[in-house]
Amino acid sequence: MVLVDRKCKIIHHSQVGPEVYVLGIDAVDVAKHALPGQFVMIGVRGKSAFDPLLRRPFSIAWTDHVKGMIFIFYRVVGRGTRLLSEYMPGTGLELLGPLGRGFSLEVSGRRILVGGGLGIAPIIFLYKWIKASGASATCILGARTGDELLGALKASDISLEDVIITTEDGSLGKKGLVTGPLAKCLDHIGGDATIQACGPAPMLKAVSNLSNHKVRLLEVSLESYMACGIGLCLGCAHKKRGDSEEYVHICKDGPVFDARDVVL
Ligand SMILES: Cc1cc2nc3c(=O)[nH]c(=O)nc-3n(C[C@H](O)[C@H](O)[C@H](O)COP(=O)(O)OP(=O)(O)OC[C@H]3O[C@@H](n4cnc5c(N)ncnc54)[C@H](O)[C@@H]3O)c2cc1C
Ligand code: FES
Repeated sequence: MVLVDRKCKIIHHSQVGPEVYVLGIDAVDVAKHALPGQFVMIGVRGKSAFDPLLRRPFSIAWTDHVKGMIFIFYRVVGRGTRLLSEYMPGTGLELLGPLGRGFSLEVSGRRILVGGGLGIAPIIFLYKWIKASGASATCILGARTGDELLGALKASDISLEDVIITTEDGSLGKKGLVTGPLAKCLDHIGGDATIQACGPAPMLKAVSNLSNHKVRLLEVSLESYMACGIGLCLGCAHKKRGDSEEYVHICKDGPVFDARDVVL
């Protein structure tokens, strides 16, 4: 397993939606080894080398092997991402990764990918991976508004015709939530299908409720606050499904889990 922990240079940084940015980082070794569903921890610093102290986790949205780059999408939600949005191309940032266990890559039967909000990032990586391998998948991506999706899809070179899009305000694709088209897909599939999903917790729960007993496997990518990203601080504990008081650690056991194993 390759784990990079060093300063890497920002090559590309642009705003692609309201408070949403795409960041391209020169990290040839991460690009070479990263798998869909894995993430990186990024150190963002303000005026002091210790502020904010903790690195922030971000999913890898895709890699470019020719340029030796990885790309992430992020939304500005707090101090770390606000500071990150001010970094200019040419600046170095601390990068640790690739981390975690990603999505299953070899699956039999029909495959449905579901991404909501910034959860589209690892789904885009997975979708590109599947297409590059010559396989196919139905990809459903949702957001609140079209602005949040259009720029991200353009930046990642995903054609609007290739994916099913839903927006809550109806400004792009079908009006509503990702569960609308997912329910229709589930009406027409056999039981050997796989769903792979990433998005807000309520979305994952709704996907799980819909697909219950209808698919062979549902994989979900979970989020939590992360301090270390490598299984040392135990800050990302998440309850396992069942009566026992057992926990998984999202950074090292996940972030991708079989939905039957964890509480959603
Ligand atoms: C495995 C993993 C992959 C991720 N991938 C992405 C990605 O591709 N793009 C992206 O934009 N974000 C992603 N995130 C979330 C991202 O790490 C947080 O948005 C970021 O750390 C916020 O940092 P901040 O300093 O700006 O915000 P903070 O000041 O730390 O927090 C600001 C607000 O955001 C909320 N918040 C912070 N972190 C999280 C979190 N992990 N989950 C839910 N709410 C949170 C806080 O409650 C607070 O309200 C991912 C998180 C994980 C664990
Ligand atoms: S973030 Fe430290 S153990 Fe998971």
